[in-house]
Amino acid sequence: MNQTLPPSVDHVATDAETLALFGGVYSNYLALEAAIHDALQRGAERLYCLGDLGAFGPHPDRVFPLLRKHGVICLQGNYDDSIGNARDDCQCGYTDPRDNYYAQISYEYTLRNTSDANREFLRSLPPQRRERWGNREVLMCHGSPRRVNEFLWESTTSTAFLERLCEQHRADTIFATHTGIKWTRQLSRERQFVNVGALGRPEHDGRTEVWYTLVKHLGLVHRASQGSPAMEARPVAETRAATLPPLEVQFVPVQYDFRRLAEEMRSEQLPEAFVETILTGWWTTCREVLPSKERLRPGRLAKVPPFPPIGRIGLEKGRATADGTRYDKR
Ligand SMILES: [Fe+2]
Repeated sequence: MNQTLPPSVDHVATDAETLALFGGVYSNYLALEAAIHDALQRGAERLYCLGDLGAFGPHPDRVFPLLRKHGVICLQGNYDDSIGNARDDCQCGYTDPRDNYYAQISYEYTLRNTSDANREFLRSLPPQRRERWGNREVLMCHGSPRRVNEFLWESTTSTAFLERLCEQHRADTIFATHTGIKWTRQLSRERQFVNVGALGRPEHDGRTEVWYTLVKHLGLVHRASQGSPAMEARPVAETRAATLPPLEVQFVPVQYDFRRLAEEMRSEQLPEAFVETILTGWWTTCREVLPSKERLRPGRLAKVPPFPPIGRIGLEKGRATADGTRYDKR
């Protein structure tokens, strides 16, 4: 039965390594270049991008030479499938018409400005990747292991669901992106879910930096308890998980020339609302999809300067509160 066979593995690592994982690039080639440089400086031995190379930003073809030059291992996100196959829309999974309106502007610009050769490259990308780091089974995907455009938000994703994904997809660690906001959760038996964030636009937190994820694993580690009679009596999967060394996951902020990106977006006549997000760190479009906790999380708001600009895209006016935080009237 195929179900009982171990899934094929794209790469096996037995030694300790430092790796960098990038989320959606959204044509932000300046942030991609800065992130690659930063990751290499920190000793990253392999670089990955979990998909959505285009969208939002200017000059989509500029990300591809960087990916090629540095050997970034790429997955196919929903955007890459759409651009590669010239589909009608980005398949982003938005439901609010305001989100879809701006997503379509971005999508049509990106499709018009992506070369045939790069579209062919996007079509060739795999949707998922499996690796084995020591004893740890790793699954990289775009939205979730079950759907390329599934939004896994921290506030609305239960631990039980993540545990189930690990079981069903035979993974100890799942890496994903798609939402544009990083987060991680420790699961049972040293398993872990990581949303690696995005390079394409800031996190709706009033900061202009974008984020990527640096991971360190220890490779194959033999513990004293491994092979003991008690361990051998357990099911294989449980024994393997119990011997997993912890994974070190670090979210890394990336500073880049966001003013230059903003000017290039204006030159390309992309909507000023997109530019505003790059300059302020506040989402002004494609943000209705945000759950309320990601929109209003106190820890996030505590870091922002007072009276951030008010988004103006078909929304009622928000207001700034006395302590400088903000909420949007819905
Ligand atoms: Fe996506």
